[in-house]
Amino acid sequence: MNAIYFQKSNRENLNNLAIKLSKKYPNMVVFQALACEDGVCGLDKLSKDFNIKTEYLFDTQSGVKKYLENENAFYKSIIIKFNELKAKYDFVLVSSFGAFGGLDTFWINLRLSKELNLNYVIDSDLTKFEFAKIHHNYTSLYNENTGIDELLNLKKPEYVSPMAFEVMLESKAKSDIKTIVLPEGNDERILKAAHKLLESKAVKLIILGNNKEIAQKASDLGLDLDDVKTYNPGNSSLDDECANALFEARKSKGMTIEQAKELIKDRNYFGTLLVHLGYADAMVSGAACSTADTIRPALQIVKTKPGVKSVSGGFFMCLSDKVWYFADCAVTPNPTPENLAEIAYVSSKTYEAFGFEPRVAMLSYSTANSGSGVSVDLTKQACEFAKAYEGLVYDGPIQFDAAVDIATASKKMPDSKVAGRANVFVFPDLNAANIGYKAVQRSAGAIAVGPLLQGLNKPINDLSRGCLVEDIVNTCLISAIQAQ
Ligand code: ACO
Repeated sequence: MNAIYFQKSNRENLNNLAIKLSKKYPNMVVFQALACEDGVCGLDKLSKDFNIKTEYLFDTQSGVKKYLENENAFYKSIIIKFNELKAKYDFVLVSSFGAFGGLDTFWINLRLSKELNLNYVIDSDLTKFEFAKIHHNYTSLYNENTGIDELLNLKKPEYVSPMAFEVMLESKAKSDIKTIVLPEGNDERILKAAHKLLESKAVKLIILGNNKEIAQKASDLGLDLDDVKTYNPGNSSLDDECANALFEARKSKGMTIEQAKELIKDRNYFGTLLVHLGYADAMVSGAACSTADTIRPALQIVKTKPGVKSVSGGFFMCLSDKVWYFADCAVTPNPTPENLAEIAYVSSKTYEAFGFEPRVAMLSYSTANSGSGVSVDLTKQACEFAKAYEGLVYDGPIQFDAAVDIATASKKMPDSKVAGRANVFVFPDLNAANIGYKAVQRSAGAIAVGPLLQGLNKPINDLSRGCLVEDIVNTCLISAIQAQ
C-alpha cells in the first residue's frame, strides 16, 4: 500500500497522520485535489513547519467551475494528477477537501477514493463511517491510537472505474507511441476521434480518403487534423506496393495481380495492407461497414500469430468499479472445444496485458456436474483441452452467478480458485457471447470497449456501426497498446 484517502474532520488530524507517515516515508506527499482560493488552505503548515511536500490541483473556484462544466473531466484530471504523484513519491496521502461552493463534498470525496482505488480512511465520524461502508467496501476508521502499520496493512481495494481504465489506456499508449490507420475518413465520428487522439498525443494517425475532402470536412467541423497522413486507395503513392503485397499473400488462393489492383481500392484491404507492410502498426475500422468486411482482409493477409489457430474477439466490460472481459463476442459462430480452450488462453493473455490478473470462467448453463447436455459436454471438453495451457487459471463448466458471486460459489464450487472471483468470461458460442455482452451493456450501464480481435499477427480492430467518438478513441488506444 503506497497511498490512502483520508477523510479528515479537522486539519490537526491530517497533520498528525502526515507527520507519522513521513517518518516511514521521507519522500511522501500530501495531495489535496482542491485547496482554498489562495491555493494553500492549511497545506502550507505541513510544508513550512514539518518539511512535508504538499500538492493540490485546483483552487476552490476553478475546481467548482471545472466540476460544473464537465464532471467527468474533473475526476479524470484528478486521477491523472494522482498517478503522476504515485510515480514520483514513495507514499501519497490524499486528503479530503471541504469547501466546494455548497456542494456535498462527502459524496465527491467518497467517489474520488474509489476512482483512485484507495482505502477510504475516516477519522472519528462514526455516522460517516457507517454510511461510507455501504458504498465503499474498503472503508476504515482512524483515530490517534491507530498504528501506522495497521493502516499500511489494510487490504487493498481492487476498484477500476471506467474513467481510471481510460486514463490507464491513454498513459499506456503514450509509453510507446504507435501509428494507427483509420480507413473510414468519410465518417465524421472518425475525424472527431482523430482530433481527440492527436490532441492527447497518444498515437500517430493515417486516415484513408480524399485528402482535400478530409481537410474540408475537418475545417467545417473545426477540427485540427494537420498532423494526419492521408492516402486515397486506388490513387496513392502506395497503390503498387499494396497491390503486389496482396497478390503475394493471396496468389496461392488463385488471386491475380489484376484482381489485387482492384481489391486495394477497398479501404479495409488498403488499411490492412498498410499494417501488413509496416506503414501503420494497427488498423481500426468498422464504423460504417460490417464486422465480416472489416476483419476478412486481416484473416486473409495478416493471419494468426504463431501457435494461435483462430482469431477471436473480446470486450472489456467496464462496470462502475471493475473491468471484466467477455469472449468470443465477435468472430467464431460455433467454436469447437479446442477453439474454446484457445479463446480462454488468448483472452487471459489479453486481459493480463492490460495489467489485470486473469481468472477465467468457462461459462455454461451448468456448474460442475449439476447439468448435462450437448453444450455442457462441449464446455467440459474445452476445460480438458485448456489443461494444455500452462499457467491458465480457469474453471468450468460454470454458471454466471457461481462465477461472480462468492456465496453461490461457496455452495456450488467450494474448492474453486475462480468461482465467485472470475473476471474473464468465455461463452460457449457466438450467440451467447454477443447476446451476453449487449445485455450487460444495455441493462447494467456497462461501457463495452471492443471488440478487440485477439490472435492476429498485428492488431486490426473492429468498431460497431453505432459507435460513439469515445468508442473510437478507446479502440485506437487499445490497438496501440496491442501493437507495443
Ligand atoms: N481465425 C483465423 N482465421 C479465420 C477465422 C478465424 N476465426 N475464420 C476464418 N478465417 C480465415 C479462413 O481460414 C480463410 O483463410 P484463407 O482464405 O487464407 O484460407 C479466411 O479467413 C476467409 O475464411 P472464410 O471462411 O471464407 O471467411 P468468411 O469471410 O466467410 O468468414 C468471418 C470469416 C468473417 C470471421 C465469419 O466467420 C463471420 O462472419 N463471423 C461472424 C462475424 C459477426 O457477424 N460477428 C458478430 C457481430 S460483431 C459485434 O457485434 C461486436
